[in-house]
Amino acid sequence: MPCVQTSSGAARVRGSAVRRVLITGAGGTIGTILREGFRGRFDVVRLLDVAALGSAQPGEEIVTADVRNLSAVASATAGVSAIVHLAGIPHEDTLERIMQTNMVGTYHVFEAARRQGRPRVVLASSTHVTGFYEAGERLGPDVPLRPDSFYGVGKAFAENLGRLYADKYGLEVVCLRLGTVADRPTTPRHLSTWLSPRDAVELFSCSLTAPGVGFTVAYGASDNQRGWWDLSSARQLGYRPADDAERWAAEIEAATADPSESASGPQGGGYAVERAPVPDGQ
Ligand SMILES: NC(=O)c1ccc[n+]([C@@H]2O[C@H](COP(=O)([O-])OP(=O)(O)OC[C@H]3O[C@@H](n4cnc5c(N)ncnc54)[C@H](O)[C@@H]3O)[C@@H](O)[C@H]2O)c1
Repeated sequence: MPCVQTSSGAARVRGSAVRRVLITGAGGTIGTILREGFRGRFDVVRLLDVAALGSAQPGEEIVTADVRNLSAVASATAGVSAIVHLAGIPHEDTLERIMQTNMVGTYHVFEAARRQGRPRVVLASSTHVTGFYEAGERLGPDVPLRPDSFYGVGKAFAENLGRLYADKYGLEVVCLRLGTVADRPTTPRHLSTWLSPRDAVELFSCSLTAPGVGFTVAYGASDNQRGWWDLSSARQLGYRPADDAERWAAEIEAATADPSESASGPQGGGYAVERAPVPDGQ
């Protein structure tokens, strides 16, 4: 069930209908899930990516743009009532590339929102902002950050930018610390971190439409029996997860050998493993 829906089909935010939603990084894994899942929930979904997005379906608009270009992002933001910001590098990389795409790119999204009528921003953060806590430790959105990678540091920066734009400019911001988005869990770690596609659609929809979010940080996972994160702030947005990774537990435990994907050690798994730093420019 969608969290909030008006009779016209347009979901609501801040008392006014969410008519047009911009999704950055719409061509990727999560973007593709949301593109499908948002059909019929919002009047118009504007899809932005540097990569090809195919042809626009009814109720869609397509924008080819790079989030590293502020004026392109500002143009793409005109007339939208909310933004889902996904575009970026979804894994560890050089600090230089994380800075340009994930940090500067996210700054462009917040700055474009400030200039273009202050639509709500829903940010795809990551549990890698707290990846150095041990598996099994119960974490809520207020724990001190312990990023496990340059990737995690970039997400921590993005959350802090959101806090700044909320406090200084009154933007509504939801930072979703997403676990592992996949069709199904495949490793022991996923038994704690999995976020199913249908729960992801629900979580993003609730984040777009819940009233009065101010600045909210929420962990994003399915209702996993072995979950590590307190989902109460997501539930306050109206999120009611339907899936649980436990269904695959016996099969996964019988098959797994990769130690970086075990359910012990740091929550960040392989991201938290010490490796020779990758020099910038490589
Ligand atoms: N997939 C997960 O399990 C997961 C978990 C936690 C957080 N996240 C975050 O969610 C977001 C989406 O993840 P995903 O798995 O869909 O990643 P993805 O790589 O599948 O998709 C990212 C999309 O962003 C686009 N993109 C990259 N650089 C861009 C740029 N400069 N300008 C415009 N578009 C650009 C890519 O073309 C791609 O389509 C990322 O920010 C990622 O860090 C994902």
